[in-house]
Amino acid sequence: MTELVRTDRAEETTGRWWRDAVIYQVYVRSFADGNGDGIGDLPGVRSRLPYLAELGVDALWLTPFYTSPMADFGYDVADYRDVDPIFGSLADARALIDDAHRHGLRVIVDVVPNHTSDRHAWFRQAVEAGPGGPARGRYIFRDGRGEGGVLPPNDWESVFGGPAWSRLPDGQWYLHLFAPQQPDLNWENPEVHAEFESVLRFWLDLGVDGFRVDVAHGMVKAEGLPDVGHTGQVKMIGTGVVPFFDQDGVHEIHRAWRRLLDSYPGERIGVAEAWAPSPARLAAYIRPDEMHQAFNFHFLTTPWEAAGFRAVIEESLETAGLVGAPSTWVLSNHDVKRHVTRYGGGAAGLRRARAAALLMLALPGSAYVYQGEELGLPEVLDLPEEVLRDPQRLRDPEDGRDGCRVPIPWTGAGPHFGFGPPGTGEPWLPMPLSFGPLSVQAQSGDPLSTLSLYREALRIRRERRAFGDTPPVWLDAPGGTLAFTRGEGFACTVNLTGEPAEMPLPGRMLLASARPAVEDGVVRLAPDSAVWWERDGL
Ligand code: BGC
Repeated sequence: MTELVRTDRAEETTGRWWRDAVIYQVYVRSFADGNGDGIGDLPGVRSRLPYLAELGVDALWLTPFYTSPMADFGYDVADYRDVDPIFGSLADARALIDDAHRHGLRVIVDVVPNHTSDRHAWFRQAVEAGPGGPARGRYIFRDGRGEGGVLPPNDWESVFGGPAWSRLPDGQWYLHLFAPQQPDLNWENPEVHAEFESVLRFWLDLGVDGFRVDVAHGMVKAEGLPDVGHTGQVKMIGTGVVPFFDQDGVHEIHRAWRRLLDSYPGERIGVAEAWAPSPARLAAYIRPDEMHQAFNFHFLTTPWEAAGFRAVIEESLETAGLVGAPSTWVLSNHDVKRHVTRYGGGAAGLRRARAAALLMLALPGSAYVYQGEELGLPEVLDLPEEVLRDPQRLRDPEDGRDGCRVPIPWTGAGPHFGFGPPGTGEPWLPMPLSFGPLSVQAQSGDPLSTLSLYREALRIRRERRAFGDTPPVWLDAPGGTLAFTRGEGFACTVNLTGEPAEMPLPGRMLLASARPAVEDGVVRLAPDSAVWWERDGL
């Protein structure tokens, strides 16, 4: 009987690897520098594959490494079928994909379909061609309002601040929901569809296992481009209802892409970066004939508080469950403040981040780990003004994303903490001295380190693929704490308060973010901590 169950599970995981995969986000620019120019690159990532395999993740998601003038650090793509020389070459990409597979790691790459770079051949042609021709029909060009067309065509704001329209010298305006160097494509044009299908095929043929679809909620705009009617429209990872995001028409594109993905062997996946007003709207992106996963930003934005976490977990599972999809969980990425800092920073922030990791990894579905979170890295808040580069900073200096993109430390000492080979130039963002004790090397031999906690959690999770899709069953727990079981044999308890909390002993301790005290069948959970328990019966 047990044997049979195991066989089923094995089939399930090879066939549908993504349903409970742990996917590690590599922000290529800041992960590892292979050639010593101070900027991370593909050979750097390749050299660190053994680290990722040992960490125990299932897949990597690589942020854009395509040819780009880097106005938005690669999210402004000039050539979707080539590698920017800063990051290496196409041969390096091929070698990385093959090597990752040899290490048992799948590879997901970013695709950026909402906009191109203003240096993309299509946009250059559009600028040169002048108003009215087919070259402009690939983007969203309009005449302006007011006398002489001096006002933008509507009141839309860019996510990075300021109007979402820029004017060319010939008088026409073009739409850019992000930076002016990122003109929005016109997805009503069949040529745009054909081009992206060809780009997807290009990378699928090279062997990638899937795509993270950038701004997957943005490609289709409301008919007639109506005004929003107010300012302060949308922020990065916003949930507002606006005529340029989350329009029903985007789902047709995702359906076409799903058909394409399914035409390749081996469960290639699509992951939507979609900002939707509610978990229910988000679930539409992961219907059976659309994307496989969508980032769950509702989980990411939940403050450190028990009731809020329970509510978002329940709602996420319920809405994803309605469409038969796994939920996903994410705490940090390259667009938001690192969660150690969001949860209060310092010792308390780190305690909470460690506990959040055990909570996240105990939930059914797929989890995303942003590079450096396994080291407990905080946001770097004191980068000198002159090194700040993020275009979002122009909107609001407090909102810049440079502080979560600082290169990660590999060694405790030495120049730039081992980010690159000996003689490496200054990293593109300076690394604070406080990163030394948080380096991979410094944490590797320490069983109590955050890195060891992640390694151990991922090992246990892997061993117990049994976690599978089994939903959590909530146990009675004192205020400010969460306790749930997953199947018969496993329980997780989380104390989200700054005080110890007592509850009946749920089982034998497997792993703890901070050691609890156990006495006479009662466990006293440490403040801001999570514990995994083995329960009798399995
Ligand atoms: C990416 C950002 C990027 C934006 C525009 C996103 O949501 O994650 O880093 O600035 O898309 O491409």
